[in-house]
Amino acid sequence: MDQAQTLRDYMHRFHDQQEQKPLSRIITITSGKGGVGKSNFSLNFALALKEFGKKVVILDLDLSTANINILMGIRPRYSLADVLYQRKSIWDVIEQGTFGIEYIAGGLEMEDLSKIDQTKVLLFLSQLQELQTYADFILLDTGAGISKELVDFILASDETILVTTPEPTSIADSYAVMKTVLRYTSQTPTFFLVVNRARSYLEAVETSRAMKNASSKFLKMPLKTLGFLMEDEHIYKSVKSQMPFLIAYPKCSASKSIKEIAYSYLPDVNRTSSVSTKGLHGFFEKILSLGKSS
Ligand SMILES: Nc1ncnc2c1ncn2[C@@H]1O[C@H](COP(=O)(O)OP(=O)(O)O)[C@@H](O)[C@H]1O
Ligand SMILES: [Mg+2]
Repeated sequence: MDQAQTLRDYMHRFHDQQEQKPLSRIITITSGKGGVGKSNFSLNFALALKEFGKKVVILDLDLSTANINILMGIRPRYSLADVLYQRKSIWDVIEQGTFGIEYIAGGLEMEDLSKIDQTKVLLFLSQLQELQTYADFILLDTGAGISKELVDFILASDETILVTTPEPTSIADSYAVMKTVLRYTSQTPTFFLVVNRARSYLEAVETSRAMKNASSKFLKMPLKTLGFLMEDEHIYKSVKSQMPFLIAYPKCSASKSIKEIAYSYLPDVNRTSSVSTKGLHGFFEKILSLGKSS
């Protein structure tokens, strides 16, 4: 039996053993447009979920711009690339963030994965499999732009949170993300909306209404609004001091809102399907097979 087959058998056995435990739920956080507050949202949403007793790992897939690790004031030593090239195990690349949030730097282009030899990829997947019942939630923070890779991430996730500001450019880009994703699937992916940087409650409501109307009218897609974050200078201050705003300013408007968002998200997840059907291993398996078929 070749090595790849042995690994595949191992992974199936592992999967059967793990079937009883719930898989980590994978949430992609995206926007199309850059600089709208995705990374700040991801980190503080993770912290809010943690306050509700959930275990959260952030996987940083934004390879191009400033990362979550800077917002936490940590410097990751390793990344998923080290796992892929067998320099480190999956447990070595999980950084213990200072605020109880665990963090993995992506550090690899997904298209690289489809060019790599199969045994390496299977080893990589078996490493990810070890992690798949480890956390309640794995948040994927993505970069700017609407690429085929982003579409793959969204289709492989359990759900997606769109972070949108009231600016028409941001609304247009978030809409474009949904529209592009629908071009690649006949299913109805789950999208949630978070409006960020609204100057007034009315502006937030109008933004949410514009997104919902466009989504139901032109895409025939339901879009649930999780909540609003107002323009809040505490976010700017927290970025400067490299402390998440939920920790540095727990009583500020953004902190109150992010807790409400986590609070409204959790029962929603339980209502739809509390058990992830994908998990982190399934996520990457899907990315790889999608990558090959396209
Ligand atoms: N609600 C907000 N109020 C004020 N400033 C904000 C808010 N959200 C984001 N910002 C500012 O926008 C900047 C970019 O946010 P970031 O989370 O890095 O965006 P992205 O990850 O989408 O590129 C932050 O450094 C912060 O200064
Ligand atoms: Mg970012």
